[in-house]
Amino acid sequence: MSGFLTLGIETSCDDTALALLEGERDVVCDVISSQIADHSKFGGVVPELASRKHQEALLPLLRSLLSQTGVKPCDIGLIAVTAGPGLMGSLLVGVMAAKALSQGWETPLIGVNHLEGHLYANVLANPGLIPPFLCLIASGGHTELVLMRGRGEYILLGSTRDDAAGEAYDKAAKLLGLGYPGGPAIESAASGGDPSAFDFPVAMRGSGAVEFSFSGIKTSLRTTVQKLNGPDGTGHVPIADICASFQRAVTESLLVKILLAVRTTGVKKVAISGGVAANAALREALTEAGHKRKFDVYLPPKKYCTDNAIMIAAAGKASFDRGIRSGLSLTPDPSWSIWRRTEFMYDTPKYQAATIRL
Ligand code: KG4
Ligand code: ZN
Repeated sequence: MSGFLTLGIETSCDDTALALLEGERDVVCDVISSQIADHSKFGGVVPELASRKHQEALLPLLRSLLSQTGVKPCDIGLIAVTAGPGLMGSLLVGVMAAKALSQGWETPLIGVNHLEGHLYANVLANPGLIPPFLCLIASGGHTELVLMRGRGEYILLGSTRDDAAGEAYDKAAKLLGLGYPGGPAIESAASGGDPSAFDFPVAMRGSGAVEFSFSGIKTSLRTTVQKLNGPDGTGHVPIADICASFQRAVTESLLVKILLAVRTTGVKKVAISGGVAANAALREALTEAGHKRKFDVYLPPKKYCTDNAIMIAAAGKASFDRGIRSGLSLTPDPSWSIWRRTEFMYDTPKYQAATIRL
């Protein structure tokens, strides 16, 4: 190892993750401690429990990372830590640890935006992916379609009006008794099911703007299940068909807006990230649409879709290279946003040309 080493630390939600990255994209080591087993009995993430678990896991993970690699603190050139958005208590654990390490090791520190990290999962995994590109970030807390114009230049094209796509999967799985996290549970229960068996709503399909909504589909699922169960609760609920149809509707809701963004911006490179990007139905549908409509599709490996510290290290290193630094005054911001917003008038090409100059 002779290159610049970045230590990435991610504790924004329910995964404690650390990684060592050499240069811009060579992963030396990554370790992760998942809290799924701790939260699953509650059907979702319990914030107080999450921060306690981060506290327990972080230092043992760091020791294991250093002993596995033989890397010494003095070899590390940068500490990159998620500073928001996320759960305040969880973020605090990572940021405080990073500040202490930065001071003790005399190593530069940088606070990374978690969603910028999700974007960098793609940059990291695809050396050929050069901005501008479109990226859908779909996770348990976010559904945002972003145009990455260049390094550090992000335009929010649109987001969800209510629930996030991953949240819809989690709530649906809870309702169907399939456990947490819901996405992988629904995906595996959907296998062999008929995706056209039930007609769940694709919200905002014709709205003409990049915006998502997933609260209606949740209600529709509840009503459908209640009807199938019948008044005495003994009716047959065909789980595979329901899950396949639910997955199809969520996938279509995401795809419709990706296609709209491709048309309106003229950008022909599309990436996806966040936990929902691990969903095989979405990956297939997007790949197929890319072939048909002649745009390039970039899919990060599934391991990079869900929360990890590799992407945080990569985003941190990119900011560091642009001269950005955080001092010891770094504080977590649970609702930190880095997007510039744009008001699109989708059917006026002149306006688009003026707004989105690529
Ligand atoms: O990015 P992530 O690990 O954490 C957040 O920042 O939220 O995303 C977790 C979310 C959960 O809502 C989970 O149900 C969903 O991503 N998810 C999936 C799949 N794997 C994880 N959704 C659909 N299909 C999957 N295979
Ligand atoms: Zn995430």
